[in-house]
Amino acid sequence: MTQKLSVSDLLDIAPLTIDDIHKILDRAKFFKGALADRNVPQTLKQKIIMTVFVENSTRTRTSFETAVLRLGGRLINWDEKISSAQKGESFSDTLNYLNGYAPDALIVRHFEYNAPHFVAGIMDCPVINAGDSWREHPSQALLDAFTIQEFKGGIAGMRVAIVGDLAHSRVANSNVALLTKLGAQVHLIAPQNLQPRSVSDNVRVFDRLEDGLTDCDVVMPLRIQKERMDSAVIPNDTAYFHAFGLTRERLKLAKNDAIVMHPGPMNRGIEIADEVADDPHQSAIFAQGANGVPVRMAILDLLAGNHHV
Ligand code: NCD
Repeated sequence: MTQKLSVSDLLDIAPLTIDDIHKILDRAKFFKGALADRNVPQTLKQKIIMTVFVENSTRTRTSFETAVLRLGGRLINWDEKISSAQKGESFSDTLNYLNGYAPDALIVRHFEYNAPHFVAGIMDCPVINAGDSWREHPSQALLDAFTIQEFKGGIAGMRVAIVGDLAHSRVANSNVALLTKLGAQVHLIAPQNLQPRSVSDNVRVFDRLEDGLTDCDVVMPLRIQKERMDSAVIPNDTAYFHAFGLTRERLKLAKNDAIVMHPGPMNRGIEIADEVADDPHQSAIFAQGANGVPVRMAILDLLAGNHHV
């Protein structure tokens, strides 16, 4: 019998207790082992999980879908492009109909700030935020924390550099909230115009990559989120790579055994050099991506699973 979380939705990191976070990370570890042994408890058997993606996605969507199917659940994908939204139906009317079909959980990605809270206000089932605007992407932060724990043995005391477009990054926001809660120190490195809107304790901001990388255990470059920017502030790709691109030479400023992570999609040659992305010793990027499945299985299981199996 798995103990449930103190929350009934996963919308942001802030409401999660340390105990909730450990339950998710422990359950993810269990599922990672169960996947390797091909012996996964079917805790979503008979359950219907809906996905509502109103913004593009590769990793988040396919790893959530894989997680549902691995747990024996069934999926219904609401696809905005072929839906009645194209016929003028409001988002809240759509959600009220979907709620009437009584799904067992709903996973939402939306370009609007706080949209998952709006969705949770309508739905009776657990709602899982798969990323909203530049605000939060909690399941990404959980899989990032899981990966750091796996590669580094723990999170407390780790120094994690997040580099790049911090002003528009929900991944950075959720990671800062989660990693500092777990006792890590975060270095946020960005040019002045891409720096975060506010910072909390245990976070330091740098505007030179060389200064921020010193003694880091983890380095996480981020994509420039051009779709969320005014065209006037979009940096030139070559100039950006010159100043902030993570090359092997620059990575040497971090600890010798530092790992590199990236939430994807990577823009090679802009925020990260090929030699770093594909480094067999220091790049944890594809392992991090693969961890999306067990971590999202844990989230789904703890929020919507049958716990008598
Ligand atoms: C990110 C996202 O969509 O928030 N990717 C992801 O989910 N792994 C980051 C991005 O778009 O750059």
